[in-house]
Formats: sequence, structure tokens, C-alpha cells
Amino acid sequence: MQAKRETVQTLLDALPFIRRFWGETVVIKYGGAAQTESGLKDKFAQDIALLALVGMKPVIVHGGGKSITDLSARLGIDSVFQNGLRVSSEKALWVAQMVLCGDINTEIVSLLNDHGAKAIGINGKDGNFAKAVGIDGLGFTGDVKEVNPDLLLKLIADRFVPVIAPIAAGSEPKQPGFNINADLMACAVAGAVRAKKLIFMTDTAGVLDKDGRLIRSINRADAARLKENGTISGGMIPKVDAALSALSFGVDKAHILDGRVEHSLLLEILTSEGISTEITR
Ligand SMILES: Nc1ncnc2c1ncn2[C@@H]1O[C@H](COP(=O)(O)OP(=O)(O)OP(=O)(O)O)[C@@H](O)[C@H]1O
Ligand SMILES: [Mg+2]
Repeated sequence: MQAKRETVQTLLDALPFIRRFWGETVVIKYGGAAQTESGLKDKFAQDIALLALVGMKPVIVHGGGKSITDLSARLGIDSVFQNGLRVSSEKALWVAQMVLCGDINTEIVSLLNDHGAKAIGINGKDGNFAKAVGIDGLGFTGDVKEVNPDLLLKLIADRFVPVIAPIAAGSEPKQPGFNINADLMACAVAGAVRAKKLIFMTDTAGVLDKDGRLIRSINRADAARLKENGTISGGMIPKVDAALSALSFGVDKAHILDGRVEHSLLLEILTSEGISTEITR
């Protein structure tokens, strides 16, 4: 009986947060770095299903950096990065597309459906909803120039959970498409669907300082300083840039969250216990 009372209390504690986010769109960037073991992936899927079933509108954008690097190595293709962004030859784009759309996307969709969400896997080429242009010097790694929200808004209105692989169509006909850093894709999607919140789930506690301690909140000026002195490097650079752009596109809050902690999404959204780095204007 006592245990049941505690369960009821837990549900009641979540009520103000459910009320706050009911009907709101939340974009969750599920980093490749956080997709480590099957137990954790299953808990992530449970969290998303729960958020959807209590009235939120989650949209997932996933990465897959580690898997792309692994398969590339097996195929004898070097992985080269500049400022945290992968340089994509046409062959590297082909590998990224196979890993992201073929493998990771379908796995996440199945997991979510197993837990009762209505997940549907898409990438920017579907209905041409995300178009990109190449970034100078990075080959077929692109930057999203345009997101047409119609398809996403229709899916969301029908209570589907879109699971988006970060591949975009080219802006010109006959281009093979572009590999997009998933943080940048998440930012473009969050702006287009007018998300309330954008959460980046990754494999660190958040943004760490020089001594490895979690920084609870950073703004544009802090980010510029931390990039300048090398504290923010590699894959954290596009993440922080994407979070700041999303805020300027009208997203209310952006967080960098530890995807290695079980149920970190529920802790962040449905409790008062903020455990992430919040990026502020
Ligand atoms: N100041 C910092 N604080 C925390 N992590 C940092 C910092 N600077 C650099 N990093 C690196 O950023 C990494 C996270 O970015 P990374 O691109 O590797 O993962 P992801 O974006 O979650 O996954 P994917 O790119 O596959 O979507 C961390 O694992 C860490 O090595
Ligand atoms: Mg990354």
C-alpha cells in the first residue's frame, strides 16, 4: 500500500510539468555518442513513449557519428573532421546514408513502436523537407538551408513521432544529397516546427569546464570564450552553436543532457531536478 501511495505521489509530482509541456513540441537530438548499450536505448524509447502518451509532441533527430566512423574504417575510408564536422567524400556520404537511414533510424523506430509510440522514420529527402548546401571544404557535408515544416507538422498533428536521420536533399536537382551534422539538423527542425524545447542527449554530463566540472548554464559570450580557449572542442562545437541558433529561431530553452544516465530525459523534463547544461540567450 505504502509503495502504491508513493507511485501516486510521483505521478502527482510530475503533474505541473506535464501541464506545462502538454501539446508542446520538444525536439530531442539523440546523439550517436549516447546510443551505447541496448538497456539504455530501451529506456530512452520508454521515455519518449511516455512523453508522447502524456500529451507532448516529441520529435527525434538522431546522430550516428561513432557507427559511421566504425563502418568507414571497415571499408577503408578515413574519417576526417574539421571543427567537429565530418568531411564527406561521395563515398563517405554513401556510408553515412547507409548507417543513418538504413541501420540506426530503423532501430530507433522499432524500439519506439515496441513501447507504444507511433514512430515514423524519415530523412530530409522525404518529400524534400530539408534542403542543404555544401559547406566550403567539407565535400558532401552540408548546412541546412531550408526546412519545409508541412510534412513534419502533419505527422505531429496525427500523433506520429518523427524520427529524423540527418541527411538532406540538395538544393539543386541531381545532387546526391548532403550529410548533415545531427546537431545542426536538430536546430533547423526545432526552428521550423516552433519547438518549445531542444534537448541534445550526448555522452558527457553537459558542457564541462577545463577541470571537467559541469557548467550549469552558458550564454553566447561564455560559449565564444570557451571555444576560443579550447575548452569547447570537437563535437561540442556544433552542439553549442546549434543550441544558440535554435534560441535565436524562437525555441524557448536548449539543454545539453547526459544520455548515459538512465531516464535522464524524464528527470530533465518531468522533475525540478535540472541535470543538464542550459544554453541561454
Ligand atoms: N567542453 C566540453 N564538454 C563536454 N564535452 C566536450 C567538450 N569539448 C569537447 N567535447 C566532446 O564533445 C563530445 C560530444 O560530441 P559528439 O559529436 O562526439 O557526440 P554526439 O553529438 O552526442 O554524437 P553524434 O555526433 O554521433 O550525433 C564529447 O564526447 C566530448 O568528447
Ligand atoms: Mg556530434
